[in-house]
Amino acid sequence: MTQFKAFLIEEAEDGVTSGFKNIDTDDLDPGEVLIKTAYSSVNFKDALAATGAGKVIRRFPCVGGIDLSGVVVESSSDDFKVGQEVIATSYDIGVAHHGGYAEYCRIPAKWVVPMPNGLDLFSSMALGTAGFTAGLAVERMEHNGLNPSAGPVVVNGATGGVGGIAIDILAALGYDVTAMTGKPEQAGYLKDLGANEVLDIASIDLTKIRPLGRETWAGVVDNLGGDILSWMASTVKVGGAIASIGLASSFKFNTTVMPFILRGVTLAGIDSVNAEMAVRRKVWRRLATDMKPRNLDKIVTTVAFDELPATFDLVMQAKMRGRSVVKISD
Ligand SMILES: NC(=O)c1ccc[n+]([C@@H]2O[C@H](COP(=O)([O-])OP(=O)(O)OC[C@H]3O[C@@H](n4cnc5c(N)ncnc54)[C@H](OP(=O)(O)O)[C@@H]3O)[C@@H](O)[C@H]2O)c1
Repeated sequence: MTQFKAFLIEEAEDGVTSGFKNIDTDDLDPGEVLIKTAYSSVNFKDALAATGAGKVIRRFPCVGGIDLSGVVVESSSDDFKVGQEVIATSYDIGVAHHGGYAEYCRIPAKWVVPMPNGLDLFSSMALGTAGFTAGLAVERMEHNGLNPSAGPVVVNGATGGVGGIAIDILAALGYDVTAMTGKPEQAGYLKDLGANEVLDIASIDLTKIRPLGRETWAGVVDNLGGDILSWMASTVKVGGAIASIGLASSFKFNTTVMPFILRGVTLAGIDSVNAEMAVRRKVWRRLATDMKPRNLDKIVTTVAFDELPATFDLVMQAKMRGRSVVKISD
């Protein structure tokens, strides 16, 4: 039995409370693999869970953190050996099963991804769920026929985690990328990541969205939902694809069938949580090779374990740029 520090989210009368507590390995959930956590990260979902701003936690109490990288310290699975470096994201981790904000995490072997060659404990968490989701979105759009000669790809929520990594991946693959942002003062940063153009969201008149607007985008990476997604759907080129990832602006989506039936536009839902393991491993392998972002150092800030609550506040106030990796243990 080993005592260690964990960031625990608990149920309270008026919502949730969260903070640091000491727990021990007997408190952990069942699973074949015990991992000593090296790094975790902060995703939008982690901030929603810890602050109670979103009903994310499905089992209380729960150690937060939907992502983790670390080293296997115990394993009853033939697939994983003691000393092996691994990644675990999604499934119930950090929402209904104790997650990555703790020095140890025990999870089922079927949720664990071996560290691919080309990534390490830190870079895999610089990517985390945000990077995996961006990779999954690109993979889905390519499956739909997207290629660099098809035309420009627009990425919104560009200064966020998913957005920044999507820009970096697409630019590395040779796409002409437009970054759409509510922070036009970050244009220099977005161009450094690989964006050719930066579009200020405020320049778009969302009161005048036509069923079919000017054909502009071969691909869309949408982190926002709401009227921005409606506008983008009306401006996708014939045969183009939208990867619907997030709801940072709104979960609502008002549109017409016109882009879908007159331009053959595909609306691809991106679900990182339920992605099959074969797809998961493929995307992680690509993130370590042809999709490997070239500018993670510009996107990522490392925060100490103790800085988690302050980081959640920045995310909820949309003041964060890029991603935060959380150093959990040496
Ligand atoms: N489907 C999945 O499996 C999956 C996986 C991961 C994430 N997500 C979702 O994808 C979205 C992005 O995640 P993330 O981790 O990248 O979040 P993030 O780092 O917090 O970034 C979100 C970005 O969206 C923009 N934004 C935030 N609030 C906004 C608002 N009220 N109106 C308009 N724009 C706003 C900001 O970018 P700008 O200022 O540059 O515009 C912000 O940086 C979230 O909704 C998240 O829940 C889904």
